[in-house]
Amino acid sequence: MNIKKISTQPFNDQKPGTSGLRKKVKVFQQPNYLENFVQSFFDTLSVPQHAVLVVGGDGRYHNRQAIQTIIQMAAANGFARVIVGQSGILSTPAASHMIRKYKTFGGMVLSASHNQGGIDGDFGIKYNIGNGGPAPEKITDAVFAKSQIISEYRIADLPEVDIDTLGEFKLGEGDDAFIVQVIDAVKDYADLMQDLFDFPAIHQLLVDGFEMKFDAMHAVTGPYAKEIFVNRLAAPVESLMNCEPSEDFGGGHPDPNLTYAEDLVKIMFAGENALDFGAASDGDGDRNMILGQNFFVTPSDSLAVLAANATLVPAYANGIAGVARSMPTSGAVDRVAQKLNVPCFETPTGWKFFGNLMDAGKVTLCGEESFGTSSSHVREKDGLWAVLFWLNIIAVKKMGVEAIMKAHWLEYGRNVYSRHDYESIPTDAANGVIAHIKSQFDTLPGQKFGSYTVKVCDDFSYHDPIDGSVSSNQGIRILFTDGSRIVFRLSGTGTEGATLRVYLEAFEPDSAKHHLDAQVALAEMIQIALQISQLVDRTGRTAPTVIT
Ligand code: G1P
Ligand code: ZN
Repeated sequence: MNIKKISTQPFNDQKPGTSGLRKKVKVFQQPNYLENFVQSFFDTLSVPQHAVLVVGGDGRYHNRQAIQTIIQMAAANGFARVIVGQSGILSTPAASHMIRKYKTFGGMVLSASHNQGGIDGDFGIKYNIGNGGPAPEKITDAVFAKSQIISEYRIADLPEVDIDTLGEFKLGEGDDAFIVQVIDAVKDYADLMQDLFDFPAIHQLLVDGFEMKFDAMHAVTGPYAKEIFVNRLAAPVESLMNCEPSEDFGGGHPDPNLTYAEDLVKIMFAGENALDFGAASDGDGDRNMILGQNFFVTPSDSLAVLAANATLVPAYANGIAGVARSMPTSGAVDRVAQKLNVPCFETPTGWKFFGNLMDAGKVTLCGEESFGTSSSHVREKDGLWAVLFWLNIIAVKKMGVEAIMKAHWLEYGRNVYSRHDYESIPTDAANGVIAHIKSQFDTLPGQKFGSYTVKVCDDFSYHDPIDGSVSSNQGIRILFTDGSRIVFRLSGTGTEGATLRVYLEAFEPDSAKHHLDAQVALAEMIQIALQISQLVDRTGRTAPTVIT
């Protein structure tokens, strides 16, 4: 094998964000850009002999070219085998499963998740370690440092590998052999789901006329959904929509929320004609949105419902070890954990913080308010898993989504919750908002705003109880005396300007008020957030871009 050493110069913007490195496709198309980042990883990780790498992505524009480059670089950096999803497609949870199932050294996941695709859209790459989860900060920090001094990368002179045909492609002989193995990741993943959930009960539910719609948003979960819902659970094909993956996600924004999953939302909010159950997942299949008939389940509530009903699912029949949620996620799951008498951990935003807790057996379920929920079956969030979990609960309880949710609030009270996003605002203005709030840290405690009084405010820091690492500056919290709170955070995944997220939460024990729309119930809180942040003046925005 002819291995070339190519001289290169550092790019100064390769710091991984909340979930890997995300940039415009055009940035990734610059000569050496992807190569520098990949080499920085390989150098940081010191690849052992006979190492195996999983590679795949969400099928967005630039996926195929990037996979060929990574195969060539893996060959030149000592990997013995690369496992690729057929046609280069692997959902993020399926990639995590592959790494775990085949006990590989790690994997390269190519995705910009819910960000738009296509030639003018975004591309992304992240590295997952041997446990199947995103590389922790100590690795990504070291990779960034490496990327700042890189002077050379290694790449093998290989012909283009056919990644559309299942099978093995062997290059070289004996100890020097390098193998590319193209696998059917859909089957492996569907088998895992069938092991975890009560498929006969879900099948019966669907046969009995329960009507559902799953929207893959033209993204990666389409083939997985066909195999699971149609082939294995006998749902009619009409139960699926947008299940052909496309490089630009049909021109849409593959983010399963009330704004971007518009077509599904119309179907599910069609009054009497609405179906029983609707769900969607994002670009790379790790996010999920759950809808009932004319009813939206917030991701924070979804996590709480899954935790409260876990024992109805065969895989969790013996109970859960504990739960974890990201700091901005509502405290609904905390109440469930308390009742179940299991620990509840509060981590910074980003799935990478859950890995240590799961590896140590401290938590079984975890989730984020950003439409992410999962368990220790993988080390990523998992969209289809959450959908199947809900279907399993519905099939066993024989109750609809809204009824399950209302019964849950009756038992635990309701953590009314909403997130307001201000996307693509000038970075200076966004930093100004954060600095302005921080400048009030000393004066806010004790201040009264309408019916609320500030108790404390801080910039959230996390001390990982397993490896002792500390992550600071993880979001500003304004906590009120009655347990309500406002959180301000700048996104770590955007690629244009800055995105400011405002998270609002208030606890409502009174069931007579549980039917209220969150925007109505939180109206006063929203005004307080605007007042404290001077957001309108500083950004010129009079309304959020997305409300969830
Ligand atoms: C967003 C979400 C976060 C999630 C991440 C990756 O990150 O808020 O919960 O883990 O996407 O899907 P952010 O843009 O807020 O940094
Ligand atoms: Zn995603």
